[in-house]
Amino acid sequence: MKAITSLTALVLGATLATMALAQADATTETTEAEPVESAESETVMPSGHDITAVEMTDGRWRNDEGIPTFKVEDGVVDFATFNGFRRYHAECHVCHGPDGEGSTYAPALKESVLRMDYYDFMQVVASGRQGTNSVMPAFGTNKNVWCYIDDIYTYLVAHGTDTIGRGRPAERADKPEEYAAQEDACMSM
Ligand code: HEC
Repeated sequence: MKAITSLTALVLGATLATMALAQADATTETTEAEPVESAESETVMPSGHDITAVEMTDGRWRNDEGIPTFKVEDGVVDFATFNGFRRYHAECHVCHGPDGEGSTYAPALKESVLRMDYYDFMQVVASGRQGTNSVMPAFGTNKNVWCYIDDIYTYLVAHGTDTIGRGRPAERADKPEEYAAQEDACMSM
């Protein structure tokens, strides 16, 4: 338990540090209604955030700010995003509905991710939130969620921007070696 608590503190600390950075160079945000996708698979969120994948670190695609994002090429979904589909349906689906579509109890996360930024999303999942007649549990100490939260996030963004449809993606890329290493490190912390 002690190990898990320090893991959370570590992750939260890192998240807060990055939040401060992100706020420092926050750019002007526009409020377009629909996500815009170009033929070159560049993707800009309604918030004006560019989530185009530019590089892979720890086996996960990132945008130019280092925020996890998806990459879909010829219908083949990157491993992390595919895994996010599975993890979402194991941990979040019971309240938030299949495919992040929402339920009478909890909001449609495929829409939340278009509105919230990455750091706000992480904050709610780590700490939970008390609603009027409902509660979002805190998952910061649950390794089955927290070690894969970036994957859940990118899956929701990919589905929310209509890059991937409902249901299990038909084709996925292989698990990168760095992904496996990072996964082992996180799960054994
Ligand atoms: C036990 C039910 C339950 C589970 C399981 C659950 N949530 Fe929630 N979640 C909620 C409720 C209820 C809310 C709305 C709380 C409120 O009104 O403030 C919520 C809100 C959220 C929000 C804020 C959405 C917004 O639009 O403001 C995020 C992000 C979120 N959940 C992510 C997740 C993720 C990711 C998982 C799986 C790891 C998950 N939730 C699992 C019940 C749940």
